[in-house]
Amino acid sequence: MMVTGGTGTLGRQVVPLVQAAGWKVRVLSRHARDGGDGVEYVAADLLKDEGIDDALGGIDVVVHLAGGPKGDDVGTRNLVRAAERAGVRHLVHISVTAVDQLPLTYFKSKLGAEQAVRESSVPWTVLRAAQFHDFVLNAVQAMAKLPVLPVPGGVRFQPVDARDVADRLVELALGEPAGLVPDLVGPKVYGLGELARDYLRAKGKHRLSLPIHVPGKVGKVYRAGGNLTLSGADVGTHTWEDFLSAQV
Ligand SMILES: NC(=O)c1ccc[n+]([C@@H]2O[C@H](COP(=O)([O-])OP(=O)(O)OC[C@H]3O[C@@H](n4cnc5c(N)ncnc54)[C@H](OP(=O)(O)O)[C@@H]3O)[C@@H](O)[C@H]2O)c1
Repeated sequence: MMVTGGTGTLGRQVVPLVQAAGWKVRVLSRHARDGGDGVEYVAADLLKDEGIDDALGGIDVVVHLAGGPKGDDVGTRNLVRAAERAGVRHLVHISVTAVDQLPLTYFKSKLGAEQAVRESSVPWTVLRAAQFHDFVLNAVQAMAKLPVLPVPGGVRFQPVDARDVADRLVELALGEPAGLVPDLVGPKVYGLGELARDYLRAKGKHRLSLPIHVPGKVGKVYRAGGNLTLSGADVGTHTWEDFLSAQV
């Protein structure tokens, strides 16, 4: 099985689970490394379309996690074409909740990536996950560096733990191609200000809050909860509070 982005935040949780299920794992990312952990690491660049065909030799199932703030549409299209040529029999792709709601660069490129997977002749599964706890932690750490805490009004998240996402992805990768499956979100909805204050409390810090208005369509979507999946989603088990107390 290949895991693209197997060295990233999510990938590092997925790879050992695939190994524990008895599969050999090949990890694709831009930087190869020694595989003392039983993993084969290969270097390929999805965005530049370099090295993908060679990396896919002999691969049956691909779990596609590689990505960045932009260009996921291009990288995924390149991967999909190579997977078609290689005769891959199942492509599992990680997407993001509200991918078709928010007119932001990251979401637009994730939507393009989903489209590339859906239009492919390779049988596929797509899981849309909410923001990971790690992502929220980075965001609130950045907010907390400011002398006053900016709190965007009406912005809420359902953060999910990367370990829960990894469990679900591996379950999907070991099963048959399933198309678009139910979203995976965290156990609770939080305001962004609440998440930031939880972090500050855990660090023993204090900040005055400054309410911020998020303008435009993005603000409207957030205030309407258009980024949330309030029904029909699968729900992770690990809470933000548990994650935070382990990290801080
Ligand atoms: N973070 C979230 O809250 C969240 C929520 C929902 C979905 N997702 C999706 O989950 C996936 C994984 O997220 P993450 O937070 O684990 O990301 P991450 O920690 O930034 O890891 C990204 C991985 O992709 C590889 N990569 C980046 N650009 C590449 C390229 N051009 N070619 C080949 N490999 C490349 C990186 O390795 P190298 O640097 O060595 O290339 C790394 O292994 C992404 O698709 C993301 O959109 C994330």
